Amino acid sequence: MEAAGFLVMLAILLVSSSSFSYAYDNNPLQDFCVAVPDTSAAVFVNGKICKNPKQVTTDDFLATGFNNPASTNNSLGFGVKVADVNLIPGLNTLGLTVLRVDFEPDGVVPPHTHPRATEVIVVLEGTIYAGFVTSNPTDNTKNKLFAKILKPGDVFVFPIGLVHFQRNVGETKGKGIVAFNSQNPGVITIGNAVFGTDPHIAPEVLTKSFQLDKKVIEYLRSKF
Ligand SMILES: *[C@@H]1O[C@H](CO)[C@@H](O)[C@H](O)[C@H]1NC(C)=O
Repeated sequence: MEAAGFLVMLAILLVSSSSFSYAYDNNPLQDFCVAVPDTSAAVFVNGKICKNPKQVTTDDFLATGFNNPASTNNSLGFGVKVADVNLIPGLNTLGLTVLRVDFEPDGVVPPHTHPRATEVIVVLEGTIYAGFVTSNPTDNTKNKLFAKILKPGDVFVFPIGLVHFQRNVGETKGKGIVAFNSQNPGVITIGNAVFGTDPHIAPEVLTKSFQLDKKVIEYLRSKF
């Protein structure tokens, strides 16, 4: 009886854990599924249409130019070059995105979250203050910050969904390679998602939420 109960539990666990994993990138069902815009040259497998394997070439798996920096000429002082399925069609269904990030001195990647991916950064140049914040604790304590000043050669992980940021605190440029375990990690920048929406979130929501005067909310809006 006890063994039967255990087997039922095990079956429930297996079923629930496998349906849980479907919320993420599935393992690919084939060696590769190269994205192709021409439907007549394609079979449909998972999200994007797949190129006929007979027409796949080496270049479907290749991107070049990542030795050159991304433009950082913007108010935040950082830039990225993204190697995702849109650049490398052979990445389709493989659950991976890679990018190069460049920082000016004082360059900041503002607090943001990737709803579908864990992120890892390999710092190659610069001195990068990086951190992430836990979900709201259930015991009425404050959200905990895990942060570190990273040097070239350091590798740091930002768990899926958690709010995180980076800043180059060094006096020289910074650069790193970032990877995500999703072909489509998504990004939600907190400031934009709160103060930069179209249309605006009703001001009463923001004044009460942040305990701020309407004028301050309007000022913050003007920044996004
Ligand atoms: C940076 O961008 C501004 C406009 O956004 C432009 O006027 C300026 O020439 C750019 N600088 C460089 C070095 O590209």
